[in-house]
Amino acid sequence: MKKITVSAPGKLELYGEHAVVYGRPCIVTSVNQRLKLTVELIKEPIFEFNAPDINIKDYIKPMNKLGLGDIPKGAKHVETALLNFIKKYPINSGVKVTSKSKLNSLLGFGSSSASVVCIIKALSELTGKKLSNKRSFLSDKAIFDIAYKTLLDIQGRGSGVDMAAVIFGGTIYFVTGGKTIKPLNLKSLPLIIGYTGFKAATAPLLNQVALKIKRYPKVIDTIFTGIGQLLPQAQKALSKEDWQTAGELMNFNQGYLSSLGVSSAKLDSMINAARDAGAYGAKLSGAGVGDCMIAFAPPNKVSAVKKAIEKAGGKAINIKSNVEGVRIEL
Ligand code: PMV
Repeated sequence: MKKITVSAPGKLELYGEHAVVYGRPCIVTSVNQRLKLTVELIKEPIFEFNAPDINIKDYIKPMNKLGLGDIPKGAKHVETALLNFIKKYPINSGVKVTSKSKLNSLLGFGSSSASVVCIIKALSELTGKKLSNKRSFLSDKAIFDIAYKTLLDIQGRGSGVDMAAVIFGGTIYFVTGGKTIKPLNLKSLPLIIGYTGFKAATAPLLNQVALKIKRYPKVIDTIFTGIGQLLPQAQKALSKEDWQTAGELMNFNQGYLSSLGVSSAKLDSMINAARDAGAYGAKLSGAGVGDCMIAFAPPNKVSAVKKAIEKAGGKAINIKSNVEGVRIEL
């Protein structure tokens, strides 16, 4: 039967994380660590999943039992996305999925979002459901809608920004639930990226913020509004390649995230080290506590900033950002 390989990038939030879960805008970029899924339609009505990178071997289940029973953590995203796809577009075959990841799931670049988007894209191509046309945002939006539903089914809350980054690629301006998905068409993005050394789970941090909203609704609303107000200027600065303004706005954003309680001693020390070494600005990226921090610096300070990040216990990683979104691999 039919078989296809699809790949999708990782992502990094540049501005607006957390606030974007509550109706504010954010800016996200895709990064060149790609997850590859090979998807095959098979005769037997089973779902078969192999993902050697995350120790999943021969996970098999009848198609009519998708979503039921114990699902290993690593299979949850792909299985739920498959289920959501076939609920909307029924198929008469089994599905065999193999994942080959260049995307180190520990770095916090969003390997689960990439896997969700890959399976939906692959199924839409294999079954001839015209969900996507490379040039049509409208049909990429159809992929987004299934991917976003999958995220909400698994995590309960979230903005969907990860899914949009992976589908559309490049750097995008995004509003909660995909209300706005606007490509910024940046020519370059000289982002410095530092990895804390550990991954932080998103859902508990989202719950932590939700609890704070209950206790301090006005305070948190003020923080989210403050974050949202950075976005128009940040978008302009990125488009004009004004890395100084873009960096300084990152500093404001980090201040807000810190007062939300999602930074950590490790992130703080890497961010401060980057600033002390001459960065225009730096902040955490994503849900917080672990994963990565990002910075902009003048070209003559980039190497000093990377060294400072390493000295603070982080790992400076050289990965291209602002890259192509989900694509069919030949
Ligand atoms: O997927 P993470 O952990 O990088 O976080 C994504 C950004 C959040 O705003 C914290 C969550 C969301 O759904 O927008």
